[in-house]
Amino acid sequence: MWRSHLLLLIVHVVCRVDATLFSNVTLFGYEKAQLTDHDLAQLSAEHQAYFGFDDSAINTTFAGVSGACKLAPGDDGFPSARTWEEFNATSIVNGTLIAPKPLASPCYNSWGEYNERKCAAITANWMNPYLHEADPTSSMFPLYQGRTCLPRPDPNATCELGSYPKYVMNVSTVAHVQIALNIARNMDIRLVIKNTGHDFLGKSLGAGALSIWTHNMKDLQFIANYKSDSGYEGSAFKVAAGVTVREIYQAAERNNVTVTGGICESVGFAGGYFTGGGHTPMSGYYGMAADNIEAVNLVTADGRFITASNTSHPDLFWAIRGGGGSTWGVVTSVIVRAHPNMPIVASTFSYSTGGNITKEIFWQGTRKFWEMFPTLADAHTYSYFWIYVLPNDQLQFQMVPFWAPGHTIESFNKLIAPWFDYLRSLGIQFTPKTTLHHSFYPAYNDNWGNETVGASTGLPGNRIFPRSNWECPEKFERMFAAIKNTSMSGHTLGGYHQAPQNRLNVDNAVSSAFRHTLSFLIGMALLEDGENATQAQMQKAVKELTEDILGPWRDVAPESEFGGSYLNEANVMEPGWQRSFYGTQYERLAEIKKKWDPKGVFYATTAVGSEEWEVRDGEWGTQTQNGKLCRV
Ligand SMILES: Cc1cc2nc3c(=O)[nH]c(=O)nc-3n(C[C@H](O)[C@H](O)[C@H](O)COP(=O)(O)OP(=O)(O)OC[C@H]3O[C@@H](n4cnc5c(N)ncnc54)[C@H](O)[C@@H]3O)c2cc1C
Ligand SMILES: *[C@@H]1O[C@H](CO)[C@@H](O)[C@H](O)[C@H]1NC(C)=O
Ligand SMILES: *[C@@H]1O[C@H](CO)[C@@H](O)[C@H](O)[C@H]1NC(C)=O
Ligand SMILES: *[C@@H]1O[C@H](CO)[C@@H](O)[C@H](O)[C@H]1NC(C)=O
Ligand SMILES: *[C@@H]1O[C@H](CO)[C@@H](O)[C@H](O)[C@H]1NC(C)=O
Ligand SMILES: *[C@@H]1O[C@H](CO)[C@@H](O)[C@H](O)[C@H]1NC(C)=O
Ligand SMILES: *[C@@H]1O[C@H](CO)[C@@H](O)[C@H](O)[C@H]1NC(C)=O
Ligand SMILES: *[C@@H]1O[C@H](CO)[C@@H](O)[C@H](O)[C@H]1NC(C)=O
Ligand SMILES: *[C@@H]1O[C@H](CO)[C@@H](O)[C@H](O)[C@H]1NC(C)=O
Ligand SMILES: *[C@@H]1O[C@H](CO)[C@@H](O)[C@H](O)[C@H]1NC(C)=O
Ligand SMILES: *[C@@H]1O[C@H](CO)[C@@H](O)[C@H](O)[C@H]1NC(C)=O
Ligand SMILES: *[C@@H]1O[C@H](CO)[C@@H](O)[C@H](O)[C@H]1NC(C)=O
Ligand SMILES: *[C@@H]1O[C@H](CO)[C@@H](O)[C@H](O)[C@H]1NC(C)=O
Repeated sequence: MWRSHLLLLIVHVVCRVDATLFSNVTLFGYEKAQLTDHDLAQLSAEHQAYFGFDDSAINTTFAGVSGACKLAPGDDGFPSARTWEEFNATSIVNGTLIAPKPLASPCYNSWGEYNERKCAAITANWMNPYLHEADPTSSMFPLYQGRTCLPRPDPNATCELGSYPKYVMNVSTVAHVQIALNIARNMDIRLVIKNTGHDFLGKSLGAGALSIWTHNMKDLQFIANYKSDSGYEGSAFKVAAGVTVREIYQAAERNNVTVTGGICESVGFAGGYFTGGGHTPMSGYYGMAADNIEAVNLVTADGRFITASNTSHPDLFWAIRGGGGSTWGVVTSVIVRAHPNMPIVASTFSYSTGGNITKEIFWQGTRKFWEMFPTLADAHTYSYFWIYVLPNDQLQFQMVPFWAPGHTIESFNKLIAPWFDYLRSLGIQFTPKTTLHHSFYPAYNDNWGNETVGASTGLPGNRIFPRSNWECPEKFERMFAAIKNTSMSGHTLGGYHQAPQNRLNVDNAVSSAFRHTLSFLIGMALLEDGENATQAQMQKAVKELTEDILGPWRDVAPESEFGGSYLNEANVMEPGWQRSFYGTQYERLAEIKKKWDPKGVFYATTAVGSEEWEVRDGEWGTQTQNGKLCRV
């Protein structure tokens, strides 16, 4: 295995074109500020050793020492506070270094700035994604942080950094990214990339790390006529790393085009979202967000700034579109296709058990919807729904919206009629609110927007179900029985009908599961005592999610039949995550990882190549990022 990697490396070295910037697309201003050999020559020898590039990286086969850990604060050789201050004072770092405090530090005495009013504001806003997004280190899933500083009304309790990085570079130029990355690599310090902090698995966290915070890279440019080296001709956006879905949606509306963002407006567009694939309400026309990317500007593990596109480092371009965040490089911007605007019909409604509607009738009606997924997906539609178990043991189906791009109210009604008619024939009462919007953004705003985050009440996971389950009645029966059983056992479940397929006919690393699916479901195991859960309670919830909820779904949607799990919203303890998250692409991804990051500069839990590492976080009952990062 290792030998064949070596062979591949040699072949690739010959083909490598150094630092070629693709085509005629102008760089953003902040991308023109790059670290040069001339800049480095101005520095002291000591600083050169910290800040210098590693042009041998691409050449070496760095096996790493088994058991060796990345350097952490407190270790001999970890740069002293004084050294970090000296870095900060150089003209290149230019005061952008932050020694971060936990977001909730004003709630505690230990950081020396207890502030009741600030603490109250943080506590009240904890579920608001923008609070975490504006913070250099905070994450929206505190359970994977280690719960070392939650906002609580006890100022004398402990509040520690836990998995929050030790230092952050508040980057606003490519040179800043290069310096931070070079320091981390040259010193063998753990590197973290944080954009918004939405990651479900704690992938934008890391104890003792140096973090690159991309949030302030906000440039966004509309290109009316773009010609890419993959043959695409049409409009496009050039999108900086810190731009959110909301910002690109608003720009798209101003330019009368549609883009492939997701459903939560505060998620970043050019970070974890597209690198993980990115599922979008427009998937029925344009596939996954990653399918729409034409070029990626990034800083690779050696510290060099390059463009990856169809003709420039095509292997890296293939991998970064679906092969995950924090694995291939630090993205500074992407070019993404923009599509003509189209009208959208959106419909919301709900129904529940009660009165004459028994649970059996509820499931009969809901089953009709499931049976129609092939027809609905072939009509380019998408839907997002929840099935709740209410406190009074009633069941409720809530269609958040049904999303029908390119439809008229009449064509939508005709498409959905078999289901609606059936529900009515069963006596199920519901009142759809169906609206036609002239373009994407008003429809989006009317139906989606902010979601609540930051809770420690449960552990989420998901499963992607293949279309073949709809093509064989026996498989459909088993799948539906498993899903119904999850709900009847008391679990709330969320879901989508959607079929991204490969509608733009591109070749990238998006998991093969997305190419075959008709539906994607989210399950959640509740955590007893939430934020105060003990190790035993955590283990119980992990087991419930991994075995009781996701186990039966895995059985009816196995990887061998293109079942899988979406890596961006997954159970961090998912067994066999390589195949489950990355589908048939994993082996090729692992080879490309070895070539571009032989020293393991980029790490994130469940990222490609991460099986070579472990985070020694003690016994929390789930994987947190609160521990040393060491080679297995
Ligand atoms: C409420 C909510 C709704 C969501 N809705 C959707 C949806 O509709 N569709 C969908 O597909 N997903 C959705 N997601 C999942 C979302 O795509 C992932 O959480 C994604 O990883 C977020 O990326 P980020 O850059 O905003 O977050 P971060 O947590 O900052 O980063 C996520 C990962 O990407 C890495 N990363 C960030 N920036 C860069 C960069 N510039 N270069 C390299 N690596 C980078 C980080 O290191 C980390 O590993 C949702 C998540 C939440 C919490
Ligand atoms: C790039 O070049 C092509 C053809 O040479 C041209 O059509 C296109 O407009 C150019 N794009 C930009 C952004 O300048
Ligand atoms: C890379 O490897 C080649 C072949 O072994 C060698 O000639 C070259 O000097 C190496 N480059 C660097 C930067 O180490
Ligand atoms: C350094 O930072 C200041 C603002 O803090 C900015 O005005 C200046 O342009 C920066 N210099 C460089 C070389 O980036
Ligand atoms: C870096 O310098 C800036 C500007 O002088 C300062 O605000 C910041 O606190 C410094 N960071 C560290 C870690 O010392
Ligand atoms: C916190 O500690 C201080 C000093 O030891 C003490 O005066 C105060 O009463 C304590 N507060 C609480 C809420 O326990
Ligand atoms: C980060 O840098 C930006 C400028 O790029 C500045 O506006 C912002 O205040 C800085 N944030 C922090 C927390 O230092
Ligand atoms: C990508 O570039 C290659 C040349 O390297 C070209 O042959 C191929 O057609 C391009 N791909 C597409 C989809 O145009
Ligand atoms: C917006 O784009 C659509 C689709 O291309 C077109 O039909 C419509 O006329 C455009 N609207 C405006 C105001 O330009
Ligand atoms: C429930 O069923 C009874 C008897 O069939 C009928 O009279 C009544 O109208 C039904 N109620 C509802 C709400 O449909
Ligand atoms: C989401 O929250 C932000 C900030 O709190 C707010 O400006 C925005 O209008 C909200 N969006 C929606 C669709 O409610
Ligand atoms: C966790 O414990 C804290 C401190 O005792 C308490 O304020 C909080 O309500 C508890 N949370 C839960 C979910 O039990
Ligand atoms: C039904 O669900 C329960 C709880 O989620 C689980 O333990 C059980 O294995 C499931 N049974 C089947 C047949 O899927």
